[in-house]
Amino acid sequence: MKKPLLCLLAVASLLAFKADKKEKTFVDSNYSYAQQQLKLMLKDTETRESLAFPRTTDKAGKMTTTNMYDWTPGFFPGSLWYAYEGTKDKSLLEQATVWTEKLEPLKDFTKHHDLGFMVYCSYGNAYRVTGNKAYRDILIQSARSLSTRFNPVTGSIKSWNAFKSWHGEQMYYFPVIVDNMMNLELLFFASKETGDTTFRHIAVTHAETAMKNQVRPDFSSYHVVCYDTTNGKVLARETAQGYADNSTWARGQAWAIYGFTMVYRETKDKRFLKTAEGLTDWFINNKNLPSDKIPNWDFNAYQAGYKPGVRSNANKVTAQYRDASAGAIVASALFELSGYVDKAKGKKYRETAIKMLHSLASPAYRAPLGANGNFMLMHSVGSIPHNGEIDVPLVYADYYFLEALHRYGKTL
Ligand code: GLY
Repeated sequence: MKKPLLCLLAVASLLAFKADKKEKTFVDSNYSYAQQQLKLMLKDTETRESLAFPRTTDKAGKMTTTNMYDWTPGFFPGSLWYAYEGTKDKSLLEQATVWTEKLEPLKDFTKHHDLGFMVYCSYGNAYRVTGNKAYRDILIQSARSLSTRFNPVTGSIKSWNAFKSWHGEQMYYFPVIVDNMMNLELLFFASKETGDTTFRHIAVTHAETAMKNQVRPDFSSYHVVCYDTTNGKVLARETAQGYADNSTWARGQAWAIYGFTMVYRETKDKRFLKTAEGLTDWFINNKNLPSDKIPNWDFNAYQAGYKPGVRSNANKVTAQYRDASAGAIVASALFELSGYVDKAKGKKYRETAIKMLHSLASPAYRAPLGANGNFMLMHSVGSIPHNGEIDVPLVYADYYFLEALHRYGKTL
């Protein structure tokens, strides 16, 4: 090799080394922040019922909690597991264990579809980190419980037992929400661990049905698809948490991106990869995505051609709100998806994920220590149609922020 070329290569690798070092510092400083903020939150939990799981804040900025049967109890233990891995702080390991083990009764829970979130983010991480076989057994029993909600006629796992349309009094009794894609990871896990392909069959069938009915031809997504259990036909495509039936709810699209990426990882079926890429390209190339890459709560809120149902609180709202939780979910998903696509696309996805992570870690979204009810990220939205959790911290925003940090850190 010629000398000038060698020099050029040496300079390039020195620059890359320096950039990586800077990013390692970025990751480490965010872990250190998380460690401190989570410890403040743990202190607050000591003043409460032992089975009160952090969720968001009230109007005064104080942490509010849920019981373990809501959909979010797994995220606090999950955040403790990621923070432990990032810092090796033994007290976080202890607390991650304590908060995970509180959730054991969930293994027999069958009342809604969110068991994947509840158990895989807690016990799934616990098993990944510790290898404790008792955790594996709880995960497998949970997968059995989740499987009871699968219906072969609809080819789907039922999300909620009933859904009332925002348009009036119409009720649906087999609603499937796009978020449900996330719960499939627990089933893939159980199938690999037990060798029982029933779990995998359910997961793949659900993903195929969602790909057909929940993803629009332009790769945006419907939030809720309601089925007729007598023949499997689609009765309605509506929204629960988005602006309108034909709009794209940002977190729904985020769940879809993450979900189809994960299903591709587990199946290596190119149809799922194509879907994950289509959903991602729709999201990251969207003209309505702000320049910091953190989406508004719905890509079409307040636009002509989109109308909320008559009962929806979205009719009364005109202000625009970001949803940091959707940004965190997509950032985490893109660190994974960037490894499955061609080089140029992979580079773009990774750069987008890094940009999102830096936005979230900036003062625009990351709260000062001890503020924000001791949650990390500000500016998420639970549900504007339900008039709940608007522009607040959310425990799952923090979880996916830490997961994105974990995934990024592993590549540096
Ligand atoms: N899975 C419920 C939500 O994303 O709000």
